[in-house]
Amino acid sequence: MDLHFGDAEPTAEERAAVDALLGPPATAWEGGDRTAADLRSAARAEQARDRLLPALHAVNDRVGWISDGALTYICRRLTIPPAEAYGVASFYSLFSLEPRPPRVLHVCTDLACLAKGVREVRDGVPSPCLGLCERAPAALALEAGETPKAVVYGGSTAEDETPHTVERPEPPVEDAVPQAGSPGLVLLGRIGVVDPASLDDYRANGGYQALRRAFELGPVGVIREVTEAGLVGRGGAAFPTGRKWDATARQPDQPHYLVCNADESEPGTFKDRVLMEGDPYALVEAMTIAAYATGCRKGYLYIRGEYPRATRALETAIETARARGLLGPRVLGHDFAFDIELRRGAGAYICGEETAIFNSIEGYRGEPRTKPPFPVEKGLFGKPTVVNNVETLVNVLPILLTGGSDTKLFCVSGSVGRPGVYELPLGTPLRELIDLARPAGTLKAVLLGGAAGSFVTDLDVPLSFEGTRAAGATLGSGVVMVLDEEVDLPAFLVRIAAFFRDESCGQCVPCRVGTVRQEEALHRLGRRRSEADLVLLREVGQTMRDASICGLGQTAWNAVESAIDRLGAFK
Ligand SMILES: Cc1cc2nc3c(=O)[nH]c(=O)nc-3n(C[C@H](O)[C@H](O)[C@H](O)COP(=O)(O)O)c2cc1C
Ligand code: SF4
Repeated sequence: MDLHFGDAEPTAEERAAVDALLGPPATAWEGGDRTAADLRSAARAEQARDRLLPALHAVNDRVGWISDGALTYICRRLTIPPAEAYGVASFYSLFSLEPRPPRVLHVCTDLACLAKGVREVRDGVPSPCLGLCERAPAALALEAGETPKAVVYGGSTAEDETPHTVERPEPPVEDAVPQAGSPGLVLLGRIGVVDPASLDDYRANGGYQALRRAFELGPVGVIREVTEAGLVGRGGAAFPTGRKWDATARQPDQPHYLVCNADESEPGTFKDRVLMEGDPYALVEAMTIAAYATGCRKGYLYIRGEYPRATRALETAIETARARGLLGPRVLGHDFAFDIELRRGAGAYICGEETAIFNSIEGYRGEPRTKPPFPVEKGLFGKPTVVNNVETLVNVLPILLTGGSDTKLFCVSGSVGRPGVYELPLGTPLRELIDLARPAGTLKAVLLGGAAGSFVTDLDVPLSFEGTRAAGATLGSGVVMVLDEEVDLPAFLVRIAAFFRDESCGQCVPCRVGTVRQEEALHRLGRRRSEADLVLLREVGQTMRDASICGLGQTAWNAVESAIDRLGAFK
């Protein structure tokens, strides 16, 4: 792609895909021959930069890849320099700038699938974790066309020669929740009980009572309840939610924005997917309450591009809520306006970082910003923004109704008979959770917190934020990946390192170079033990931890370090 507008023209199909999203060009500035008069509309066209990611999706969904002509047309329509649009399009793994067939099979080669024996990919492209770990080994076929199709394959066996060619109906959501229907579930209480498409069903099962209570309490009262309940973020950083909401609500600068972080790409994490697929109205209601408390009129729900069923469920929920007056200019008849825009990611783990998500929504490369300023002061579009994880938000409903649940969701995968999402009180010993999931084989270690987490062998560690911290581990996003003696630990570590090398956005040196050096050293150590490489790994790891801009680089060495120190890897 050249740095200036080229002569390449879009095909009729590409043009139609873009026009279906943006509407037909209103001025020549937006795609036709330009006159001096058209230049006057440039300032207005500038505002459309945030349509870039949806426009790239539109073409990729329709045709399967993004040609020079299509990119040029998008650039003209949105007044974006082609080099910048190229930088954005090439940032995301679900987009292709080269021709490819309409159907692409993304085969997960990440940790949970690796633990289930996936080795090489014969009939698709290798993919980082697809968030389908309870069905590992898993794959996702995306098929472009006028009605794009997404088919999830899971639970195939390594011996199955053609696991990704036979289309089977997706199992019901509750299959991912071994405790489904049990009494005592709070966050998962409606999964498998309500029809996710039905607002009436949701309301008949307690839905929208929390929003009514919020209107009784007023914004200050809601923040007080959330603060007093001691809710901390479930996206990995465990930041107190009430403090974040209070700081946003107090900002004089307007407008305020709410961003729900549903990018869920940490290997081994799939709890948010299950919540969104099985109880989507709960998230819509919780976002509405968060917006009411923090003074937001607009919310973005940023969902990872590899979650087709959750995306459909939320599209339905948002449309229905809007049609029934639960979103829009007067929510539930109150003097409060709020609406939600669903934004699809396109295959970039880093976009889950809370400032990278802003850049992604705004139409820039999903690179994290330096902090400060913090999002509560200057976030999306430079305005005060509250970012919360899906599970964090869903926790607000029981807080307003009963004072809170004090439970946490755990994503159990690997060598267990009943993988899935479990809900248990914080502080439950790890052993109890693993027993519930029925361990298979002789346990070697548990990876807690995902690729950015660490290995533990002490099953008495309490599953709480403080308990895991005291044990030198982290709950992170709730990953509990069980590894048995059969696991090829060096290969597993290489896979973790490859993930971080692939997903590093590359903007800071310690992470860009360090993740490469880490992977190289692990490859060498897999062939031959070397003291020099162990020293190198430690130095590189420490540098990444100390000097990287964001959490990706800062945590990229955690799991490898714990494998060396606690599991005796490469002894
Ligand atoms: C590399 C990276 C990826 C992240 N991915 C996610 C994610 O997918 N979902 C999420 O909620 N938080 C993710 N986070 C954490 C967010 O930066 C942020 O802390 C979180 O969304 C805040 O919400 P919470 O306070 O409700 O947890 C990620 C952080 C980093 C450094
Ligand atoms: S630490 Fe890595 S992912 Fe984060 S900003 Fe730096 S290069 Fe990008």
